[in-house]
Amino acid sequence: MKNSSITANIIVICAFLLSCNILVTTATGGPDYATFLQCLSENLSPSEDVSRFVYSPQNASFMSVLRAYIKDLRFDTVETPKPIFIVTALKEAHVQSTVICAKKVGVEMKIRSGGHDYDGISYVSKETFIILDMFNLRNIDVNVENESAVVGAGATLGELYYRIWEKSKVHGFPAGVCPTVGVGGHLSGGGYGNMLRKFGLSVDNVVDARIVNAKGEVLDRKAMGEDLFWAIRGGGGGSFGVIVSYTIRLVRVPETVTVFRVMKGLDENATDLVHRYQFVVDKLDNDLFIRVLLQPVNGKAKGSKTIRASFIAMFLGDSDRLLSIMKAGFPELGLQKSDCIESSWIRSVVRWANFNTNSTSEEQLLSRKSNVYFGKRKSDYVQTPIPKAGLELIVKKMAELGKVGLVFNPYGGRMSEIPASATPFPHRAGNIYKIQHSITWQEKGLAAENNYLSQIRSLHDFVTPYVSKSPRGAFLNYRDLDIGTTDNGKNSYSEGKIYGECYFGQNFDRLVKVKTAVDPENFFRNEQSIPVMPSAQGRRGGK
Ligand SMILES: Cc1cc2nc3c(=O)[nH]c(=O)nc-3n(C[C@H](O)[C@H](O)[C@H](O)COP(=O)(O)OP(=O)(O)OC[C@H]3O[C@@H](n4cnc5c(N)ncnc54)[C@H](O)[C@@H]3O)c2cc1C
Ligand SMILES: *[C@@H]1O[C@H](CO)[C@@H](O)[C@H](O)[C@H]1NC(C)=O
Ligand SMILES: *[C@@H]1O[C@H](CO)[C@@H](O)[C@H](O)[C@H]1NC(C)=O
Ligand SMILES: *[C@@H]1O[C@H](CO)[C@@H](O)[C@H](O)[C@H]1NC(C)=O
Ligand SMILES: *[C@@H]1O[C@H](CO)[C@@H](O)[C@H](O)[C@H]1NC(C)=O
Repeated sequence: MKNSSITANIIVICAFLLSCNILVTTATGGPDYATFLQCLSENLSPSEDVSRFVYSPQNASFMSVLRAYIKDLRFDTVETPKPIFIVTALKEAHVQSTVICAKKVGVEMKIRSGGHDYDGISYVSKETFIILDMFNLRNIDVNVENESAVVGAGATLGELYYRIWEKSKVHGFPAGVCPTVGVGGHLSGGGYGNMLRKFGLSVDNVVDARIVNAKGEVLDRKAMGEDLFWAIRGGGGGSFGVIVSYTIRLVRVPETVTVFRVMKGLDENATDLVHRYQFVVDKLDNDLFIRVLLQPVNGKAKGSKTIRASFIAMFLGDSDRLLSIMKAGFPELGLQKSDCIESSWIRSVVRWANFNTNSTSEEQLLSRKSNVYFGKRKSDYVQTPIPKAGLELIVKKMAELGKVGLVFNPYGGRMSEIPASATPFPHRAGNIYKIQHSITWQEKGLAAENNYLSQIRSLHDFVTPYVSKSPRGAFLNYRDLDIGTTDNGKNSYSEGKIYGECYFGQNFDRLVKVKTAVDPENFFRNEQSIPVMPSAQGRRGGK
């Protein structure tokens, strides 16, 4: 205790005498390896060899450790800023000492679990930074008796689904469809998947957590209190602390579920079907989730593009019941029994992860290696059906642009029953569906990148009249730095409010209050973190 108050004083002094950094830091503005290890050692038991879990660029495997969880190649170039160290914590105490030491030496700390952040902010920064990598903390303890599980932040969704399936064929968890997404980022950002109309978001099914706060203390739900526990269920990883694990409530899934994928071209009334979709999809039985993918594909004329609509569904029941629901609620799609694939829930997870394979191996969910590519995502919410004429213009624009796609994800059901203030995630009743704008490419280089980024931005501008406004809603897990960023480290409240209200709506203010209470010095920060209240900053002499 005494030690840490002395440390705090030193930091305050350093803020005024910038040059005093030189005592402990290198030319990069960060500490050298020995200094950092020394600090970690002082905060751990003497028997610990801290060097075995801290990598500096001098370590031969530094680059492979860094790249192991880089999902997006845009952030894997020679120019991409690199961390000065990567701490691959092996236990909770390592997380605690890393927080204490990063704070002490005044270096920014990025937290990475699965590395799937769409703008790479878990492993890139403009400031001098270290990465606290959570991949070793991925224990999963499933308890079927009380229908719960404790999941380490470094686990992937695929591992979680597999471990549940090992113990029970009639339990699952409502989270994302990509098996390599990390639990730490996914759950702290809300988390949704193809069961959200039945069970809500992942965070609607979180019952406890363990986090390391800015003082380096480990807190569970009881110790952190309900405000902080509220904030870490959707308010975003990296603003409040390091999530070590979440305790989740399992949900019951039937022995047989059904999936389908029906594809329609523009010459098969795709536009009419998508138009109709908007009037029914949020009102269908809660067991049914139908996603639409609108994608440019090659047209008949050489070099031309047309748009294909794929209706991809998950149904928590058998195909006969599905067919009768579709016949009553969305007969226009003309779903046939032959379109339906019945399977166990876990098999549906494998299929959703990759509709293009007939793989039947559940083991593939344990693979932590994910495909890498260049990409960019953006999001929108639709509260009023887009008129037919509007859809026609959008489809035409997409064919002209040639590469950017849209994914519609229906809401309604359980999502509409949960109040917008129950968790930081505000997009509940009143939203028909969410749009993901999506572009993915393979070509290297800045010219390609600029071209594709301008395509996705152009479509995003184009759909402005049809989507939510003031603020234009966005989904935190579809991280999009175009919405705005804080001037990193400066913690600007006015900048934070811009993206904060897009992601969190009315919940932004409560998040700021929690942030101000638990981390007034803004140690836990990133390009889009929750800012501290301006008055609190003033009191602390400004930063
Ligand atoms: C291929 C793909 C498919 C996706 N599918 C879905 C989907 O179906 N549904 C959905 O909701 N989202 C989906 N996403 C988005 C995904 O949920 C987010 O990118 C999520 O943040 C990823 O979590 P992560 O741990 O892998 O990411 P990271 O990049 O490791 O982290 C993301 C953010 O969370 C912070 N963070 C990570 N771990 C912790 C921790 N332990 N404590 C505190 N902060 C932490 C990071 O600092 C960063 O700000 C998908 C993303 C990809 C790339
Ligand atoms: C990194 O290199 C140092 C110096 O050679 C070594 O002591 C340390 O064990 C290495 N760290 C890891 C994690 O391999
Ligand atoms: C579930 O049961 C296990 C084993 O008895 C126990 O450790 C755990 O705390 C329980 N979890 C919940 C959420 O009740
Ligand atoms: C398209 O819709 C029209 C009128 O709604 C209908 O006559 C036609 O059969 C439909 N075509 C297809 C391929 O479904
Ligand atoms: C998967 O199997 C089905 C039935 O055997 C077959 O019709 C289909 O073409 C296969 N798909 C792929 C991508 O191999």
